[in-house]
Amino acid sequence: MNGVTGRMGQNQHLVRSILEIRAQGGVRIGEGEVIVPDPILVGRNERRVRAVAEALGVERWSTDLEKCLASSEDEIYFDAQKTLQRSDALRKAIAAGKHVYCEKPTATNLETALELVRLARAAGIRHGVVEDKLFLPGMIKLKRLVDGGFFGRILSVRGDFGYWVYEGDWQLPQRPSWNFRSEDGGGIIVDMFSHWRYVLDQIVAPVKAVSCLGFTHIPERVDEGGKAYKATAEDAAYGTFLLEGDIVAQMNSSWCTRVYRDDLFVLQIDGTEGSAIAGLRRCYSQHRANSPRPLWNPDLEARTDYRADWTEVPDNGTFDNGFKVQWELFLKHVVCGDPFPWDLMEGAKCVQLAELGEQSWLERRWVDIPDLEA
Ligand SMILES: NC(=O)c1ccc[n+]([C@@H]2O[C@H](COP(=O)([O-])OP(=O)(O)OC[C@H]3O[C@@H](n4cnc5c(N)ncnc54)[C@H](O)[C@@H]3O)[C@@H](O)[C@H]2O)c1
Repeated sequence: MNGVTGRMGQNQHLVRSILEIRAQGGVRIGEGEVIVPDPILVGRNERRVRAVAEALGVERWSTDLEKCLASSEDEIYFDAQKTLQRSDALRKAIAAGKHVYCEKPTATNLETALELVRLARAAGIRHGVVEDKLFLPGMIKLKRLVDGGFFGRILSVRGDFGYWVYEGDWQLPQRPSWNFRSEDGGGIIVDMFSHWRYVLDQIVAPVKAVSCLGFTHIPERVDEGGKAYKATAEDAAYGTFLLEGDIVAQMNSSWCTRVYRDDLFVLQIDGTEGSAIAGLRRCYSQHRANSPRPLWNPDLEARTDYRADWTEVPDNGTFDNGFKVQWELFLKHVVCGDPFPWDLMEGAKCVQLAELGEQSWLERRWVDIPDLEA
C-alpha cells in the first residue's frame, strides 16, 4: 500500500478498509474460507511511514518500492499517492506482475490512462480503480429509484459539490496544497470530473458531451509549511453535460463556496414522474402525485417549508463504508475471479471527461465525448 501517509490512503484505505477487514476476520468467500489481506506499507519517508505503521500496529513497512514489487509474497499493489506520482508506480507494479488497485484519477491525461489499460491487459493482471461515490448510501438509494423506474423520463440532473477550503493564511487549509497547483497534478476538474463521469454514467446515463468553465477564484494560498504560493490550478468548475437520452446535467464543483444545503455533495434528478435528491447518506423523493403547486408571489413572505413536501427513501438495508465495500469486491475479484467492472478502462473514461472538460474551458465550446478504445 503506497501513499498511506496521505489523507485518503491512511483514513479510507488503510484504517477504514484493510484494517477493518482484518478486524472482522477477513472477507468471507465460502464455507469456512476467508481472504485476509496482509498489508505492507510503502512510503518515501522512513520516519513518516514507520510512524503510521507503529501507530496502527501494522508490522510490515518499507521505503523500497522496487524491493516490495520484487517480492512474490505480495500480490496486489495499491496506490493512493498524489495523482502525478501514480502512473510511474503503476507501470512498475504491472511490469512486476502485480494486480493493481488505485485511487482516482489514474493519470492526469488520457494518453497515460490508456497506456496503463494496455499495459495491464497485456500483462493479464487484475486491475481496479476507486469509484467510491457509487457506494455512498445516498447514491445507492438514488440508483435504486432510477432502476425502479421512479422518475419516468429523466429530464435533468443537478449536482452541487463543494465547501470552503481555507486559504491557509489565517486558518489551516483542509486540503493539501498540491490540489491548487496544476504543475503538481492539482485542479478541481481532474479531481472531481473523474467522479462525475462514473456517477453520471452509472447512476443516470452515459455522458455524451461537456461544456465547462473553470475558475481560479483564490489566486494565492499558503501551504502546509506556511509559505505563500500561487494557485496555478482552478479551484472551481461549472460544468454542463449532455447525457444519452437528451438528459441535461449541471454539476458545480467548488472549493470556494460555503455550504447552505444538506450535505457537501447533493445530486438531484428531475423526471416526468418524480424527483429525488440525495446527499452522502440520505435521499428524499417527491412523486408527481404528491407534488405541490407552487405559486410565484414575492409580495408575501415565503412561509412554505418546501422540504416538508419530500419523503425520505428508506435504507432497506445496512451500508458499510463504501471504500471498504469496494476493497472487498476487489479482493474477491483477485482471489476468486468475481466480476469487478470498475477497472483501469473505467478509470480512463473518468480521465477523459476531465481532459475534455479542460479542453471545453480553454476553447470556450461544447466538446463531444467519443467512445474510448485502448
Ligand atoms: N476517492 C476520493 O474521494 C478521493 C478524495 C481525495 C483524494 N483522492 C485521490 O487520492 C490521492 C491522494 O490524495 P490525498 O488527498 O490523500 O493527498 P495527500 O497529499 O494527503 O497524500 C498524498 C500521498 O502521496 C505521497 N506522495 C508520494 N510522492 C509524493 C510527492 N512527490 N509529493 C507529495 N506527496 C507524495 C505522500 O507522501 C502521501 O502519502 C489523489 O490522487 C487524489 O486524487 C480521492
